[in-house]
Amino acid sequence: MAERRSVILGTGSALPQREMLNAELEGIVDTSDEWIVERTGIRSRRIAGEGESTSTLATAAARRAIEAAGLDAGDIGLIIVATATPDHTFPSVGTQVQAALGVNDCVAFDVQAVCSGFLYALSVADSMIRTGAAEKALVIGAETMSRILDWEDRTTCVLFGDGAGAVVVGAETGDRGILATRLHADGRFRSMLYVDGGPSSTGTVGKVRMRGREVFRHAVVNLADVLVEVMDAAGLKPEDIDWLVPHQANMRILEGTARKLGLPREKVVVTVDRHANTSAASVPLALDTAVRDGRVKRGDLIVLEAMGGGFTWGAAVVRF
Ligand code: UT7
Repeated sequence: MAERRSVILGTGSALPQREMLNAELEGIVDTSDEWIVERTGIRSRRIAGEGESTSTLATAAARRAIEAAGLDAGDIGLIIVATATPDHTFPSVGTQVQAALGVNDCVAFDVQAVCSGFLYALSVADSMIRTGAAEKALVIGAETMSRILDWEDRTTCVLFGDGAGAVVVGAETGDRGILATRLHADGRFRSMLYVDGGPSSTGTVGKVRMRGREVFRHAVVNLADVLVEVMDAAGLKPEDIDWLVPHQANMRILEGTARKLGLPREKVVVTVDRHANTSAASVPLALDTAVRDGRVKRGDLIVLEAMGGGFTWGAAVVRF
């Protein structure tokens, strides 16, 4: 019997209205467009304004993904939102999206694995679909990182942006779908990238703190390892990949990872220049960008990966 798989039926994304160029940051902290471009590849990012929040961006991305899938919101039985910047400590952004879409009864919750959150959420949705616990799921990565940045800290505030990306996945039997996922976490490194506040510690939201150089070093190694692992699990080789859709943290990490895999740069989807690091939103945002501009086509073999705070990291191989 053919295997039941989770197929990506549609993608969507949403960005805040306001664009912030590197030049604007020169007036906020001691930095330069030249430093930011050279060290990160970032030229611009979107910043949420009044009336825009993680849940409004998540809902807008979700609507576009549902439309692209040719479905109605009522078809969705599972909503998972990956975010580290929820509108409220509780309830989840998942339930806010559910209410905004007018879905009366479904399973809805958030997953918190920071920048790897979308990979974690996708893997959970895939498991629930393959076991029959869900038929059609919305998997969303959405963040308003700008609200937890220290705008006086040049080592972090220039790196992040806001946005949301979503996919609708549904059960099908056939060759398409999620072929393998692999997730990892190593909490020994939790102080390398963290937020210095929270409901049960300070009672405040806190700000992002990062030891960038250490995170960079681990990212290149961990991402290369998990990509080899997930490709092995799917019985595929790097040369089979049509598109690598990586977490968009730093152009140098993207290029280093592609080089380690022997993948030409033309096969790597890059949006970090326009979106900066949007944490859990970055992979689905990059995927939707590449689907809508015609690069990623039905039947392509795509590989998704991310690494972030915790540390957490993961990857997925998908026949699109
Ligand atoms: O999404 C989760 C994963 N996150 C990441 O993957 C981020 C990983 N890390 C990185 O992308 C890079 O480490 C950074 C972009 C954060 C930093 O780049 P780097 O090449 O590792 O720079 P550095 O931290 O070694 O700093 C080099 C210099 C320092 O000055 P000194 O000590 O050499 O005098 C910094 O103070 O650059 C200075 N610097 C800046 N200068 C201008 C740091 N931030 C800035 C800035 N503008 N914004």
